[in-house]
Amino acid sequence: MKILVTGKNGQIGYELERNLKSLGEIIAVDRRQMDLSDLEQVRDVIRTVRPNLIINAAAYTAVDKAESEPELAMRINAEAPGVMAEEAKKLGAAMIHYSTDYVFDGKKGSPYFETDATCPINVYGATKLAGELAIQNVNIPHLILRTSWVYGMRGKNFLLTILRLANEQKELDIVSDQYGAPTWCRTIADLTRYVVSQSQIKRWYPEEWDNSGIYHLTAQGQTTWFEFTEAILKNTVNLKPPKVRPIKTVDYPLPVKRPEYSVMSSDKFIGRFCNIPEWESALKLCVGS
Ligand SMILES: NC(=O)c1ccc[n+]([C@@H]2O[C@H](COP(=O)([O-])OP(=O)(O)OC[C@H]3O[C@@H](n4cnc5c(N)ncnc54)[C@H](OP(=O)(O)O)[C@@H]3O)[C@@H](O)[C@H]2O)c1
Repeated sequence: MKILVTGKNGQIGYELERNLKSLGEIIAVDRRQMDLSDLEQVRDVIRTVRPNLIINAAAYTAVDKAESEPELAMRINAEAPGVMAEEAKKLGAAMIHYSTDYVFDGKKGSPYFETDATCPINVYGATKLAGELAIQNVNIPHLILRTSWVYGMRGKNFLLTILRLANEQKELDIVSDQYGAPTWCRTIADLTRYVVSQSQIKRWYPEEWDNSGIYHLTAQGQTTWFEFTEAILKNTVNLKPPKVRPIKTVDYPLPVKRPEYSVMSSDKFIGRFCNIPEWESALKLCVGS
């Protein structure tokens, strides 16, 4: 089994490269080796590597910046995954791709299912939705795993921002009216590994593999940024925790709108594959790791 992993320096890609090793030959590439904004390079790398499975963990993830670079974000998040799927088809390969809760507008008020209508409210969300469609338009065995609020001990994420601010400030104002499920990047890599190991048994051939589609894969439970912050501070040792004050989204205006409520039900993933840890137990493991 030859697995091509893109975005090897990203939160999820980094964990995947380490996690998948026992499953076969892992060829993990970074932006320099495979720039997703260069569609010819994307094709060339796949034709050279000839993987059985492509796991695309690379993406244009700068939500605010995407508003001023919509074409570049669209090429990286939508056109490149489409090209990967086309090349996978030629090789008889499968594809795993990550998407986001930002494909929804956040107005539902209860957990989103895979069957719910999408309605992105920013450029990033629109490009990620276009990426899902680009892959689905090519008939290959594929999994599109929508996740949310990804964090870990490296890269850019909310957890690391809070730990930095906690050392710099005595008081923090944190939004308490946005709901989601913080998901540790290692949980995502672990579960991806599990799915791949299961699929290896059945092989990924289209006629034998009937699990293709979109799945929500987030930590179980839901929280707010405010409660997430409190949990981070509570579970981090050697830290003099600052006072945390809840504030409303309107009092912390960002240049780009985010969904207010983006909790997703992972029941389909759990029913088809395996259980997913609760967000707080995963957080404890992460900060203790
Ligand atoms: N982060 C979240 O909260 C979140 C939430 C929901 C879904 N997701 C999805 O989960 C997946 C992985 O996200 P993540 O949190 O691991 O993201 P991340 O830490 O920002 O990593 C993204 C990776 O993509 C690479 N990349 C960006 N532009 C590229 C290009 N033109 N060519 C090649 N590589 C490029 C980056 O390379 P450099 O290291 O060189 O910058 C980085 O290694 C993405 O599909 C994302 O949309 C993330």
